[in-house]
Amino acid sequence: MPDVSPTKWHRAHVTWFFETFLLEGNEPGFAPFQDRYWFLFNSYYESLGPRFSRPDRGLVTRPGAHDVGLYRGNVDNRVRDLVATLDEGSLEKLTATIELGFHHEQQHQELLLMDIKHVLSRNPLEPVYAGRPHEHCEPDPMGWLEVEGGLVEVGHEGDGFSFDNELPRHREWLEPYRLADRLVTNAEWLEFIADGGYRRPELWLSDGLARVRAEGWHAPLYWVEHDGVWLEHTLHGTLPVNPGLPVAHVSFYEAEAYATWAGKRLPTEGEWEHAVVVDGQADAAHSGGNLADLEHYHPGPAGPAVDGHRLRQVYGDCWEWTSSAYHPYPGFHPPAGAIGEYNGKFMSNQMVLRGGCALTPPAHARLTYRNFFPHGARWALSGVRLADGGAPPAPAERPEAVA
Ligand SMILES: [Fe+2]
Repeated sequence: MPDVSPTKWHRAHVTWFFETFLLEGNEPGFAPFQDRYWFLFNSYYESLGPRFSRPDRGLVTRPGAHDVGLYRGNVDNRVRDLVATLDEGSLEKLTATIELGFHHEQQHQELLLMDIKHVLSRNPLEPVYAGRPHEHCEPDPMGWLEVEGGLVEVGHEGDGFSFDNELPRHREWLEPYRLADRLVTNAEWLEFIADGGYRRPELWLSDGLARVRAEGWHAPLYWVEHDGVWLEHTLHGTLPVNPGLPVAHVSFYEAEAYATWAGKRLPTEGEWEHAVVVDGQADAAHSGGNLADLEHYHPGPAGPAVDGHRLRQVYGDCWEWTSSAYHPYPGFHPPAGAIGEYNGKFMSNQMVLRGGCALTPPAHARLTYRNFFPHGARWALSGVRLADGGAPPAPAERPEAVA
Protein backbone atom coordinates (compact mmCIF):
# COMPACT_ATOMS: atom_id res chain seq x y z
CA MET A 1 0.00 0.00 0.00
CA PRO A 2 1.68 3.24 -1.12
CA ASP A 3 1.00 5.15 2.12
CA VAL A 4 2.33 2.46 4.44
CA SER A 5 5.99 2.19 5.47
CA PRO A 6 7.72 -0.86 6.94
CA THR A 7 8.43 -0.91 10.68
CA LYS A 8 12.19 -0.81 10.16
CA TRP A 9 11.83 2.22 7.89
CA HIS A 10 10.06 4.14 10.68
CA ARG A 11 12.78 3.09 13.16
CA ALA A 12 15.55 4.22 10.83
CA HIS A 13 13.82 7.40 9.69
CA VAL A 14 13.38 8.84 13.21
CA THR A 15 17.11 8.22 13.76
CA TRP A 16 17.88 9.86 10.41
CA PHE A 17 15.94 12.90 11.68
CA PHE A 18 18.33 13.33 14.65
CA GLU A 19 21.35 12.64 12.46
CA THR A 20 20.25 15.23 9.91
CA PHE A 21 18.77 18.02 11.95
CA LEU A 22 20.92 17.72 15.07
CA LEU A 23 24.27 16.06 14.35
CA GLU A 24 24.99 17.54 10.93
CA GLY A 25 26.12 21.10 11.51
CA ASN A 26 26.74 20.59 15.24
CA GLU A 27 28.85 17.45 15.64
CA PRO A 28 32.59 18.09 15.14
CA GLY A 29 33.86 16.15 12.10
CA PHE A 30 30.35 15.00 11.18
CA ALA A 31 29.98 12.25 8.59
CA PRO A 32 26.78 10.31 7.94
CA PHE A 33 26.64 6.80 9.40
CA GLN A 34 26.04 5.50 5.91
CA ASP A 35 25.73 7.62 2.76
CA ARG A 36 22.91 5.58 1.30
CA TYR A 37 20.86 5.73 4.52
CA TRP A 38 20.70 9.47 3.93
CA PHE A 39 18.89 8.73 0.66
CA LEU A 40 16.78 5.82 1.96
CA PHE A 41 15.45 7.37 5.15
CA ASN A 42 14.73 10.94 4.05
CA SER A 43 10.95 11.07 4.07
CA TYR A 44 10.00 14.20 2.15
CA TYR A 45 12.63 16.94 2.63
CA GLU A 46 13.29 18.31 -0.86
CA SER A 47 15.98 20.69 0.35
CA LEU A 48 18.06 17.77 1.68
CA GLY A 49 18.52 16.18 -1.70
CA PRO A 50 17.06 13.19 -3.55
CA ARG A 51 15.27 10.40 -1.68
CA PHE A 52 13.91 6.95 -2.26
CA SER A 53 10.36 6.62 -3.57
CA ARG A 54 7.81 6.31 -0.77
CA PRO A 55 5.49 3.74 -2.41
CA ASP A 56 8.51 1.44 -2.88
CA ARG A 57 9.71 1.46 0.75
CA GLY A 58 8.14 -1.93 1.32
CA LEU A 59 10.33 -3.44 -1.41
CA VAL A 60 13.62 -2.60 0.30
CA THR A 61 14.65 -5.75 2.15
CA ARG A 62 18.01 -4.39 3.30
CA PRO A 63 19.13 -2.99 5.70
CA GLY A 64 17.40 -5.50 7.94
CA ALA A 65 16.14 -4.87 11.47
CA HIS A 66 19.52 -5.70 13.01
CA ASP A 67 21.38 -3.17 10.87
CA VAL A 68 18.73 -0.56 11.56
CA GLY A 69 19.31 -1.24 15.27
CA LEU A 70 23.03 -0.59 14.81
CA TYR A 71 22.22 2.69 13.06
CA ARG A 72 19.93 3.73 15.89
CA GLY A 73 22.52 2.84 18.52
CA ASN A 74 25.24 4.76 16.72
CA VAL A 75 23.22 7.95 16.39
CA ASP A 76 21.88 7.69 19.95
CA ASN A 77 25.43 7.52 21.27
CA ARG A 78 26.59 10.44 19.14
CA VAL A 79 23.63 12.56 20.26
CA ARG A 80 24.45 11.75 23.89
CA ASP A 81 28.09 12.70 23.34
CA LEU A 82 27.11 15.94 21.64
CA VAL A 83 24.71 16.94 24.39
CA ALA A 84 27.32 16.11 27.06
CA THR A 85 30.00 18.28 25.47
CA LEU A 86 28.00 21.38 24.54
CA ASP A 87 28.12 24.46 26.74
CA GLU A 88 24.82 25.69 28.14
CA GLY A 89 24.32 28.41 25.54
CA SER A 90 24.92 26.07 22.58
CA LEU A 91 22.69 23.42 24.11
CA GLU A 92 19.90 25.92 24.58
CA LYS A 93 20.03 26.76 20.87
CA LEU A 94 19.50 23.07 20.03
CA THR A 95 16.80 22.36 22.61
CA ALA A 96 13.92 23.06 20.23
CA THR A 97 15.39 20.69 17.60
CA ILE A 98 15.94 17.92 20.15
CA GLU A 99 12.40 18.31 21.46
CA LEU A 100 11.01 18.31 17.91
CA GLY A 101 12.94 15.09 17.30
CA PHE A 102 11.21 13.45 20.28
CA HIS A 103 7.75 14.51 19.10
CA HIS A 104 8.60 13.42 15.58
CA GLU A 105 9.55 10.00 16.96
CA GLN A 106 6.24 9.83 18.83
CA GLN A 107 4.40 10.59 15.59
CA HIS A 108 6.16 7.66 14.00
CA GLN A 109 5.47 5.38 16.98
CA GLU A 110 1.79 5.94 16.19
CA LEU A 111 2.24 5.61 12.42
CA LEU A 112 4.24 2.42 12.89
CA LEU A 113 1.21 0.80 14.55
CA MET A 114 -1.25 2.12 11.97
CA ASP A 115 1.01 0.84 9.20
CA ILE A 116 1.69 -2.61 10.60
CA LYS A 117 -2.06 -2.98 11.17
CA HIS A 118 -2.56 -2.56 7.44
CA VAL A 119 0.25 -4.96 6.60
CA LEU A 120 -1.17 -7.63 8.92
CA SER A 121 -4.67 -7.08 7.50
CA ARG A 122 -3.42 -8.45 4.17
CA ASN A 123 -2.18 -11.68 5.73
CA PRO A 124 -4.71 -14.51 5.35
CA LEU A 125 -3.42 -16.09 8.58
CA GLU A 126 -5.02 -13.15 10.45
CA PRO A 127 -2.05 -12.63 12.78
CA VAL A 128 -2.47 -11.12 16.22
CA TYR A 129 -0.09 -8.29 17.08
CA ALA A 130 -0.97 -7.13 20.61
CA GLY A 131 -3.72 -5.88 22.87
CA ARG A 132 -6.84 -7.51 24.27
CA PRO A 133 -10.33 -7.37 22.74
CA HIS A 134 -12.97 -5.36 24.57
CA GLU A 135 -15.97 -7.24 25.96
CA HIS A 136 -19.09 -7.18 23.78
CA CYS A 137 -20.89 -3.91 24.50
CA GLU A 138 -23.84 -1.85 23.31
CA PRO A 139 -23.69 1.92 22.71
CA ASP A 140 -24.60 4.38 25.44
CA PRO A 141 -27.12 7.01 24.38
CA MET A 142 -25.50 9.97 22.62
CA GLY A 143 -25.72 13.25 24.54
CA TRP A 144 -24.76 16.76 23.50
CA LEU A 145 -22.66 19.57 24.89
CA GLU A 146 -24.26 22.93 24.14
CA VAL A 147 -21.73 25.66 23.39
CA GLU A 148 -22.54 29.33 23.11
CA GLY A 149 -19.61 30.20 20.85
CA GLY A 150 -18.86 33.84 20.04
CA LEU A 151 -15.41 35.34 19.63
CA VAL A 152 -13.01 32.69 20.95
CA GLU A 153 -9.29 32.03 20.83
CA VAL A 154 -7.81 28.89 19.32
CA GLY A 155 -4.27 27.64 18.81
CA HIS A 156 -1.39 26.81 21.10
CA GLU A 157 -0.45 29.04 24.02
CA GLY A 158 2.08 28.76 26.82
CA ASP A 159 5.59 27.36 27.12
CA GLY A 160 4.87 23.72 26.33
CA PHE A 161 5.75 22.06 23.05
CA SER A 162 3.68 22.55 19.93
CA PHE A 163 4.26 22.01 16.24
CA ASP A 164 4.53 25.15 14.14
CA ASN A 165 1.11 24.52 12.58
CA GLU A 166 -0.64 25.04 15.96
CA LEU A 167 0.45 28.70 15.89
CA PRO A 168 -0.25 31.56 16.00
CA ARG A 169 -3.03 31.60 18.55
CA HIS A 170 -5.78 33.70 17.05
CA ARG A 171 -9.41 34.70 17.31
CA GLU A 172 -12.23 32.90 15.58
CA TRP A 173 -15.98 33.53 15.50
CA LEU A 174 -18.21 30.56 16.37
CA GLU A 175 -21.98 30.51 15.99
CA PRO A 176 -23.80 28.59 18.76
CA TYR A 177 -23.37 24.83 18.28
CA ARG A 178 -23.59 21.45 19.90
CA LEU A 179 -20.97 18.72 20.01
CA ALA A 180 -21.83 15.05 20.52
CA ASP A 181 -20.56 13.75 23.85
CA ARG A 182 -19.16 10.54 22.32
CA LEU A 183 -17.97 9.08 19.04
CA VAL A 184 -20.25 7.41 16.48
CA THR A 185 -20.41 3.67 17.19
CA ASN A 186 -20.24 0.53 15.07
CA ALA A 187 -23.94 -0.11 15.82
CA GLU A 188 -24.82 3.26 14.31
CA TRP A 189 -22.57 2.62 11.33
CA LEU A 190 -24.33 -0.71 10.73
CA GLU A 191 -27.63 1.21 10.53
CA PHE A 192 -26.04 3.55 7.98
CA ILE A 193 -24.95 0.56 5.88
CA ALA A 194 -28.34 -1.15 6.23
CA ASP A 195 -30.04 2.05 5.07
CA GLY A 196 -28.03 1.98 1.85
CA GLY A 197 -25.59 4.61 3.10
CA TYR A 198 -22.84 3.63 0.70
CA ARG A 199 -25.22 3.49 -2.27
CA ARG A 200 -27.17 6.74 -1.91
CA PRO A 201 -25.61 9.51 -4.02
CA GLU A 202 -27.53 12.25 -2.20
CA LEU A 203 -25.47 11.62 0.95
CA TRP A 204 -22.06 12.01 -0.68
CA LEU A 205 -19.74 14.70 -1.88
CA SER A 206 -19.05 14.18 -5.56
CA ASP A 207 -15.38 13.29 -4.96
CA GLY A 208 -16.42 10.91 -2.19
CA LEU A 209 -18.94 9.09 -4.36
CA ALA A 210 -16.29 8.72 -7.05
CA ARG A 211 -14.01 7.00 -4.49
CA VAL A 212 -16.86 4.78 -3.25
CA ARG A 213 -17.45 3.60 -6.80
CA ALA A 214 -13.81 3.38 -7.89
CA GLU A 215 -12.68 1.42 -4.81
CA GLY A 216 -15.86 -0.48 -4.05
CA TRP A 217 -16.26 0.92 -0.53
CA HIS A 218 -19.23 -0.59 1.27
CA ALA A 219 -18.03 -0.59 4.90
CA PRO A 220 -15.10 0.78 6.98
CA LEU A 221 -11.64 -0.27 5.80
CA TYR A 222 -11.10 -3.36 7.94
CA TRP A 223 -14.64 -4.80 7.88
CA VAL A 224 -15.48 -8.00 6.00
CA GLU A 225 -18.81 -9.81 5.89
CA HIS A 226 -18.79 -13.58 6.43
CA ASP A 227 -22.09 -15.49 6.31
CA GLY A 228 -24.02 -12.36 7.26
CA VAL A 229 -21.71 -11.47 10.18
CA TRP A 230 -19.47 -8.40 10.00
CA LEU A 231 -15.92 -9.04 11.16
CA GLU A 232 -13.26 -6.42 11.83
CA HIS A 233 -9.49 -6.77 11.55
CA THR A 234 -7.83 -5.35 14.67
CA LEU A 235 -4.31 -5.52 16.09
CA HIS A 236 -5.60 -8.23 18.42
CA GLY A 237 -7.12 -10.39 15.70
CA THR A 238 -10.14 -10.54 13.39
CA LEU A 239 -13.28 -10.37 15.51
CA PRO A 240 -17.02 -9.79 15.17
CA VAL A 241 -17.78 -6.07 14.96
CA ASN A 242 -18.49 -4.93 18.52
CA PRO A 243 -21.58 -2.66 18.41
CA GLY A 244 -20.69 -0.40 21.33
CA LEU A 245 -17.19 0.51 20.14
CA PRO A 246 -16.48 3.58 18.02
CA VAL A 247 -16.44 3.07 14.28
CA ALA A 248 -12.85 3.33 13.06
CA HIS A 249 -10.91 3.53 9.81
CA VAL A 250 -13.39 5.61 7.89
CA SER A 251 -12.33 8.36 5.49
CA PHE A 252 -13.36 12.01 5.64
CA TYR A 253 -15.76 11.28 2.80
CA GLU A 254 -17.47 8.52 4.78
CA ALA A 255 -17.55 10.62 7.97
CA GLU A 256 -19.15 13.46 6.05
CA ALA A 257 -21.70 11.19 4.33
CA TYR A 258 -22.59 9.59 7.66
CA ALA A 259 -23.14 13.01 9.27
CA THR A 260 -25.40 14.02 6.37
CA TRP A 261 -27.35 10.76 6.75
CA ALA A 262 -27.74 11.43 10.49
CA GLY A 263 -29.01 14.97 9.82
CA LYS A 264 -25.91 16.38 11.54
CA ARG A 265 -22.51 17.64 10.43
CA LEU A 266 -18.86 17.37 11.38
CA PRO A 267 -17.48 20.00 13.76
CA THR A 268 -14.95 22.55 12.61
CA GLU A 269 -11.58 22.25 14.30
CA GLY A 270 -12.23 25.53 16.13
CA GLU A 271 -15.54 24.18 17.45
CA TRP A 272 -13.82 20.99 18.62
CA GLU A 273 -11.06 22.85 20.42
CA HIS A 274 -13.30 25.43 22.03
CA ALA A 275 -15.83 22.83 23.21
CA VAL A 276 -13.07 20.82 24.90
CA VAL A 277 -11.95 23.98 26.73
CA VAL A 278 -15.54 24.80 27.74
CA ASP A 279 -15.87 21.24 29.04
CA GLY A 280 -12.78 21.69 31.22
CA GLN A 281 -10.60 19.19 29.38
CA ALA A 282 -7.93 21.47 27.95
CA ASP A 283 -5.24 19.46 29.71
CA ALA A 284 -4.88 16.14 27.89
CA ALA A 285 -2.53 14.82 30.56
CA HIS A 286 -5.45 14.38 32.94
CA SER A 287 -7.97 13.03 30.46
CA GLY A 288 -7.59 9.34 31.29
CA GLY A 289 -8.04 8.76 27.55
CA ASN A 290 -7.58 5.46 25.73
CA LEU A 291 -4.10 6.18 24.40
CA ALA A 292 -1.26 3.81 23.55
CA ASP A 293 -0.06 3.48 27.16
CA LEU A 294 -3.19 1.44 27.99
CA GLU A 295 -2.04 -1.05 25.35
CA HIS A 296 -5.57 -1.73 24.05
CA TYR A 297 -4.43 -0.55 20.60
CA HIS A 298 -8.10 -0.25 19.65
CA PRO A 299 -10.83 2.29 20.44
CA GLY A 300 -12.89 1.44 23.51
CA PRO A 301 -16.50 2.05 24.60
CA ALA A 302 -17.46 5.59 25.63
CA GLY A 303 -18.06 4.68 29.28
CA PRO A 304 -19.45 7.21 31.73
CA ALA A 305 -18.25 10.81 31.72
CA VAL A 306 -15.85 11.48 34.59
CA ASP A 307 -14.99 14.38 36.90
CA GLY A 308 -18.06 16.37 35.91
CA HIS A 309 -17.06 16.61 32.24
CA ARG A 310 -19.63 16.05 29.49
CA LEU A 311 -17.48 15.07 26.55
CA ARG A 312 -16.23 11.49 26.43
CA GLN A 313 -13.43 10.04 24.29
CA VAL A 314 -11.88 13.48 23.74
CA TYR A 315 -8.29 12.27 23.77
CA GLY A 316 -7.59 8.80 22.46
CA ASP A 317 -9.82 6.14 20.88
CA CYS A 318 -10.06 7.64 17.35
CA TRP A 319 -8.69 10.72 15.65
CA GLU A 320 -11.81 12.75 14.87
CA TRP A 321 -12.43 14.13 11.40
CA THR A 322 -13.35 17.80 11.32
CA SER A 323 -14.88 19.78 8.49
CA SER A 324 -11.84 22.09 8.51
CA ALA A 325 -9.38 22.07 5.66
CA TYR A 326 -5.77 21.92 6.80
CA HIS A 327 -4.76 25.50 6.10
CA PRO A 328 -2.31 27.84 7.80
CA TYR A 329 -3.60 29.77 10.79
CA PRO A 330 -3.63 33.55 10.17
CA GLY A 331 -0.06 34.80 10.39
CA PHE A 332 1.54 31.33 10.11
CA HIS A 333 5.06 31.27 8.74
CA PRO A 334 7.04 28.04 8.51
CA PRO A 335 10.57 28.30 9.93
CA ALA A 336 13.49 28.86 7.56
CA GLY A 337 15.47 25.94 6.18
CA ALA A 338 14.66 22.28 5.66
CA ILE A 339 12.74 22.02 8.94
CA GLY A 340 10.21 24.45 7.43
CA GLU A 341 9.09 21.53 5.25
CA TYR A 342 7.84 19.64 8.33
CA ASN A 343 4.23 20.84 8.18
CA GLY A 344 3.68 23.90 6.03
CA LYS A 345 4.03 22.36 2.60
CA PHE A 346 1.20 19.91 3.26
CA MET A 347 -1.42 22.62 3.70
CA SER A 348 -3.38 21.66 0.60
CA ASN A 349 -5.96 18.97 -0.09
CA GLN A 350 -6.01 17.58 3.47
CA MET A 351 -8.49 17.74 6.33
CA VAL A 352 -7.78 18.29 10.04
CA LEU A 353 -8.37 15.60 12.65
CA ARG A 354 -8.35 16.24 16.40
CA GLY A 355 -7.93 14.40 19.67
CA GLY A 356 -5.57 11.43 19.27
CA CYS A 357 -6.25 7.71 19.07
CA ALA A 358 -5.64 4.42 20.85
CA LEU A 359 -2.24 4.23 19.14
CA THR A 360 -1.09 7.73 20.20
CA PRO A 361 1.67 7.98 22.82
CA PRO A 362 0.15 9.79 25.84
CA ALA A 363 2.59 12.71 25.77
CA HIS A 364 1.57 13.28 22.17
CA ALA A 365 -2.14 14.06 22.72
CA ARG A 366 -2.80 17.77 22.97
CA LEU A 367 -5.73 20.19 22.87
CA THR A 368 -4.38 22.16 19.92
CA TYR A 369 -2.76 19.27 17.98
CA ARG A 370 -3.70 19.42 14.28
CA ASN A 371 -3.39 16.03 12.65
CA PHE A 372 -4.17 15.90 8.94
CA PHE A 373 -4.85 13.34 6.25
CA PRO A 374 -6.22 13.44 2.70
CA HIS A 375 -9.98 13.12 2.33
CA GLY A 376 -9.88 9.51 1.18
CA ALA A 377 -7.39 8.15 3.76
CA ARG A 378 -8.75 5.21 5.78
CA TRP A 379 -5.74 3.42 7.22
CA ALA A 380 -5.25 6.02 9.98
CA LEU A 381 -7.24 5.24 13.13
CA SER A 382 -9.93 7.81 12.38
CA GLY A 383 -13.51 8.07 13.60
CA VAL A 384 -16.45 10.44 13.78
CA ARG A 385 -17.89 12.89 16.31
CA LEU A 386 -21.02 14.73 15.21
CA ALA A 387 -21.92 18.37 15.62
CA ASP A 388 -25.20 20.20 15.36
CA GLY A 389 -26.56 23.70 15.49
CA GLY A 390 -26.41 25.54 12.23
CA ALA A 391 -26.59 22.11 10.65
CA PRO A 392 -28.30 21.60 7.30
CA PRO A 393 -31.73 19.95 7.56
CA ALA A 394 -31.88 16.13 7.36
CA PRO A 395 -32.05 14.91 3.73
CA ALA A 396 -35.73 13.92 4.02
CA GLU A 397 -36.65 17.49 4.94
CA ARG A 398 -34.71 19.18 2.16
CA PRO A 399 -36.65 20.98 -0.55
CA GLU A 400 -36.42 19.43 -3.98
CA ALA A 401 -33.08 20.16 -5.57
CA VAL A 402 -33.17 22.74 -8.32
CA ALA A 403 -31.05 21.90 -11.34
FE1 LIG B 1 8.89 11.73 9.66
